[in-house]
Amino acid sequence: MSLKNYPQIAIDGPAGAGKSTVAREVARRLKIKYLDTGAMYRAITLKTIRNKVNIDDLKALEGMLANTEIELDEDKRVYLDGKDVTEAIRQPDVNAMVSPVSCISMVRRRLVGIQQKIADESEGIIMEGRDIASKVIPDAHFKFYLDASLEERARRRMKEQLEKGIQLAENKVASEIASRDKIDSSRDDSPLTVVDDAIVIDTTAMTFEEVVDKIVKEVSVGLR
Ligand code: DC
Repeated sequence: MSLKNYPQIAIDGPAGAGKSTVAREVARRLKIKYLDTGAMYRAITLKTIRNKVNIDDLKALEGMLANTEIELDEDKRVYLDGKDVTEAIRQPDVNAMVSPVSCISMVRRRLVGIQQKIADESEGIIMEGRDIASKVIPDAHFKFYLDASLEERARRRMKEQLEKGIQLAENKVASEIASRDKIDSSRDDSPLTVVDDAIVIDTTAMTFEEVVDKIVKEVSVGLR
């Protein structure tokens, strides 16, 4: 993949660090594709919940995965087996189960394969998740790791939900995020890590625009 025409950008980081909103805006500014890999893990999780699949039953899980289609369109809508699940994958039941489901290697193999194919076929892409730089596109031209304090991430999540009319308690949000962080960073298969060549951005005291500008600037300098 040529760097100039088709930059590949990896963004990793813990839950609530603002990766999705930032990556989406960077993609718009650089006119490249954006892929939210967390949405894929969420869609698989939703299916295990809806189909009452016991995630310890690998045979049942294998059967389910073989019959599952996930699509993400340019409008950022997520489809599971042809049905729009964009809102359903952000509900508390999915939040509670998505990290345990993401630990399962069979699930990861399937999704990483799809993600790598999308990256290969795209004319430039920004992907965000937990293992993008370490596993999905280890040869990405740019690797960013977005972080923020737990308190700030909880506050942002609460604000985001409040804008949708949902009021959440800060301590509940913080403990849900902390518990997902713990599972995501300590699992055996491709845990959340900071790769050696990542640019780490602590966004705690930064505005959304400042984070976007920093990434766009780094990429623009690198593309010169
Ligand atoms: O980015 P998010 O909060 O929507 O991601 C939901 C979960 O999906 C996250 O807690 C862990 C998992 N995930 C993952 O294991 N690997 C990725 N590349 C993206 C998400």
